[in-house]
Amino acid sequence: MEQIVDLCKQRGFIFQGSEIYGGLGGFWDYGPLGVELKNNIKRLWWKAIVHDREDVVGLDTAIIMNPRVWEASGHLTEFTDPMVDCKQCKRRFRADDIKDQTCPSCGAIGQFTPVRRFNLMFKTFVGPVEDASALAYLRPETAQGIFTNFKNVLNTMRKKLPFGIAQIGRSFRNEITPGDFIFRDREFEQMELEYFVKPGEDERWHKYWVEERFNWYIQALGLRAERLRIRELPKEELAHYAKAAYEIEYDFPGKGWAELEGIANRTDYDLRRHIEFSGKELFYFDEETGEHIIPYVIEPSAGVDRLFLACLLDAYHEEEVRDRRRVVLRLKPALAPIKVAVLPLLANRPEIVSLAREITARLKPKFTTMYDDTASIGRLYRRQDEIGTPYCVTVDVQSLTDHQVTVRERDTMEQIRVPIDQLPRLLEEKLALA
Ligand code: GAP
Repeated sequence: MEQIVDLCKQRGFIFQGSEIYGGLGGFWDYGPLGVELKNNIKRLWWKAIVHDREDVVGLDTAIIMNPRVWEASGHLTEFTDPMVDCKQCKRRFRADDIKDQTCPSCGAIGQFTPVRRFNLMFKTFVGPVEDASALAYLRPETAQGIFTNFKNVLNTMRKKLPFGIAQIGRSFRNEITPGDFIFRDREFEQMELEYFVKPGEDERWHKYWVEERFNWYIQALGLRAERLRIRELPKEELAHYAKAAYEIEYDFPGKGWAELEGIANRTDYDLRRHIEFSGKELFYFDEETGEHIIPYVIEPSAGVDRLFLACLLDAYHEEEVRDRRRVVLRLKPALAPIKVAVLPLLANRPEIVSLAREITARLKPKFTTMYDDTASIGRLYRRQDEIGTPYCVTVDVQSLTDHQVTVRERDTMEQIRVPIDQLPRLLEEKLALA
């Protein structure tokens, strides 16, 4: 994990949020390469969940909602963590993180206050007057924007059960103990699908989505199967809205098995509560039976930041190459922030630089392409390996006369000579196959 944190900072994946002011716990900024990787993860999810399917549509809803939403959803009363304070060092912890009554910070034994419930929602005020009537919350899950729009989507998209509504967006939780780098943040992104089904068909669809989502991690993200597992949650771990839930967990090096995604059977809980609290008829008309029903919901809910961390840890390799340490991110090409790097062998030869720049300009509309001439070729290759660039294109003296370049493959380090005019097609083929 430490190596990943260092690499993220040094190579522009992730920076501490508001770093120049000493940072702020649980808030992170994604750098130039980080934002590319993050967008790639979100794009792959959206493709698999929305674009590749007939039965799911997307949505993008407001972060701040009418506070009645959170009364109805149960978050105002139920979305809490048990919290204790150490009487000696005054630090605050999640009660379930204190296993042996010893303070993880100062080592004091048995010096904790009684357990209190702490609501994780961030508060804010809407409008100029900061009184109770203006109180609002930053959403702790994106799901509620989907439930409150259930009827709007149903009416505009003419969907029949089973169908889903998907959303990617920021969520906020005032976590008592954020940590493990970007694993537990106070501001993070979720990718959530609410999949509406007929009551009675929920358990079958629950199994379907657990399997579907598990396979996505291996096939789309390319994570190692042996570092993934499915865990059914025991009753005492279920969220207040869930009848049953599974987690897809990843074996994080140095941390162990931890949740990437939860897949819950939320029953008709949310729609029923919104019907009750809003007085609106959020029913589905079942043409077969002529009845108005409240659909059940299966909810696969993944955290972008956690997936980001898992992708980096999974891809990180260190190896010896000719007595030197090589760090290489073996990211699936679809995830790689930069697909192709164009590198001039000699940065002091204007003709080589100009040809390399010309090639960069030709490749850019097709792939995220980076031009770099700021170091020797050996070092440039190493930098690209470290950020997971699948292909490097090197322009040398010979390229000026034979109109060919060297293409180097990240994982095997194999090099082939390719005519410049065939380069875009060759890279396209290689990247599509990988
Ligand atoms: N709508 C259901 C829901 O929010 P959750 O299990 O609380 O369920 C879903 O969250 C996913 O969101 C988790 O599996 C995790 O990947 C991500 N997540 C939750 N809290 C997080 C946090 N504090 N920091 C980063 N990711 C978080």
